[in-house]
Amino acid sequence: MNTQYLQFNEKDLSTAGEFIRQGKLVAFPTETVYGLGANAFDVEAVKSTYVAKGRPSDNPLIVHVHCKEQISQIARTISPDAEKIIDNLMPASITVVLPKRSIIDDCITAGLDTVAIRMPESVQARTFLRHCVVPVTAPSANTSGRPSPTTWQRVRDDLDGKISAVLCGEPCNVGIESTVLDLSGDEPLILRPGIVTPEQIEKVLGKKVTIVTDPKSKVNSPGVRYKHYAPKIPMALNLDGDVAKIKDCYDNLVKEGFNPVLLVESPQSFKGCNAVCIGTNDDEVAHNLFENLRILENDYDYIVASFSSKTAFAQSILNRLIRSAGNNLF
Ligand code: TXA
Ligand code: MG
Repeated sequence: MNTQYLQFNEKDLSTAGEFIRQGKLVAFPTETVYGLGANAFDVEAVKSTYVAKGRPSDNPLIVHVHCKEQISQIARTISPDAEKIIDNLMPASITVVLPKRSIIDDCITAGLDTVAIRMPESVQARTFLRHCVVPVTAPSANTSGRPSPTTWQRVRDDLDGKISAVLCGEPCNVGIESTVLDLSGDEPLILRPGIVTPEQIEKVLGKKVTIVTDPKSKVNSPGVRYKHYAPKIPMALNLDGDVAKIKDCYDNLVKEGFNPVLLVESPQSFKGCNAVCIGTNDDEVAHNLFENLRILENDYDYIVASFSSKTAFAQSILNRLIRSAGNNLF
């Protein structure tokens, strides 16, 4: 398949929208990561998303909308809590899980009775979605298991020749995926942490939210079970910023014959080592995280990362780093 690279002008946006309505796959920018869009009302189109990504079919997809009216097209009921989140926090980097209408096929929800819905903050994303008219399913536009793409060039690296088009927009501002908030049960549950923090959600709802951390838990986002965000080379993750420990790990790898690189908060503390800055604050760390992994895997053969920030947003970044490192922590 010849993948078309479309620009943000009226003509190309019309083409992108037309492609979606015809059942083709179009990757598009959002503020979190690039998404791989398909018409949510076209079962064959949705199924082809799983094939293009190599994604397990029991991992459900998020349906993307450009306005609040579209939410009631796909959600069966909107609880008072859901209404509060929709009115006060959307559009933003948050996804809500609500009871689904029957128009939403099982292949989107992996057989669950709920549907995940997101209205991106990115104006480019909502402009694209408006041109689609229909709601659009979109997982991150990467090969399943790989770090999510935050530029259109990274989408090309993974999916060129496998999808109809890439809408080439700006690099993603946030850099990690949306917060997933399950509002389908008795109590609000955060299934995946993101830039929208539990505190922000609690403030809007006026009640406590539970963060589901056990990946084996039944009440869980199926997606968190899988290998995720992994670079092609092995990775170890340090959680306390202890310079001597990190240096030790690096030296041992060199002795074993590796050509490692440090991805750390203060590369200047590691004279004589290959060292890259992970970011000077949480926003920067998130923004560069997946791109850093994709750059370093080409130049080195082992990544030793360290991240010790303790803010609420840092917990979301850590969630990705731990998975990237395949739980190889020290
Ligand atoms: O920021 C984002 O959310 C990006 C951009 C493209 O919008 N999308 C994204 O999609 O991260 P994906 O497919 O990589 O992750 C979707 C997550 C998975 O963890 C999945 O299990 C969860 O949402 N999910 C989807 N439907 C669900 C449902 N009905 N119940 C619980 N979790 C659900
Ligand atoms: Mg993903």
